[in-house]
Amino acid sequence: MQIFSGIQEIRGVLRDLRAGLSMPHGTVGFVPTMGALHAGHRSLVQTARAHCNIVVVSIFVNPTQFGPNEDFNRYPRTLEDDLRMLEAEGVDLLFTPDVETMYPTGATTFVEAGGIGDRLDGASRPGHFRGVATVVAKLFHIVQPDLAFFGQKDAAQVAVLRRMVRDLNFPLELVVCPTVCEPDGLAMSSRNRYLSPEERAQALVLSRALQAAQASAARGERRAFALRQLMRNVLCREPAVRVDYIAVVDPDTLLPVEDIRSGALLAIAAFVGKTRLIDNVLLSPAS
Ligand code: PAJ
Repeated sequence: MQIFSGIQEIRGVLRDLRAGLSMPHGTVGFVPTMGALHAGHRSLVQTARAHCNIVVVSIFVNPTQFGPNEDFNRYPRTLEDDLRMLEAEGVDLLFTPDVETMYPTGATTFVEAGGIGDRLDGASRPGHFRGVATVVAKLFHIVQPDLAFFGQKDAAQVAVLRRMVRDLNFPLELVVCPTVCEPDGLAMSSRNRYLSPEERAQALVLSRALQAAQASAARGERRAFALRQLMRNVLCREPAVRVDYIAVVDPDTLLPVEDIRSGALLAIAAFVGKTRLIDNVLLSPAS
């Protein structure tokens, strides 16, 4: 695995590698991350490895997607472990720029997602998706991938980035990979390491609430408000957990739906202690 922190350097190597791809349909796959890698990230890398000739990963804790009172400074940074995992998974190139490289003094141009960027996590974290869309657009310009891999775990991020790729005509395809969970159901997250053992147990209520709603939908419940109520009831059983949002929305627009027959995203965000966790379930349209 070759490691780069400069934009010109990785661009140069990618140009040469691309020119050397012997197959007519040789592809560059890209997995953007903020590091502190876990099995969720690994599954994206493995999927990229299975589908692409060249696999590029980035590790960059992006300051513009963190609010002023959020965890940018204490976000876990575990570069040595990350390198071991990426090496073992056969990643070709790793891009680890510093903040000055990505945002040189005087950089003032941002990507605005519009209304969709103010829904779900965008409502709770103002400016978050502006930061995500901006850094991902910049990374896409640097790496110029054919396929870019994202996790369903961050469903609102997927909706915002899909929209950005379409609206700004990025010549690439987003591939969305399923959420990887711990054996007991907790969705893997770099932030899970903030949880105390007690909070770790309380955090299971998110997946339990989603499973209850999914089961109810499978038994024929079609009304979004009933599913929201059910999720709220389950979450209430863990009084230490503070709900941020419980949403039943269209997965593309993130706007609320009343009836889930044409498919819906069930999404939860909640604070467990000081740690904000998210999880979701995608319901496919009723056949
Ligand atoms: P990060 O939180 O590091 O996540 C990187 C990618 O891993 C995202 O696509 C995310 O959805 C995916 N991922 C995280 N947990 C997962 C899980 N349990 N199962 C499957 N996939 C999972 O998301 C970001 O970084 C940033 O916003 C980024 C896109 C890199 C822009 O800064």
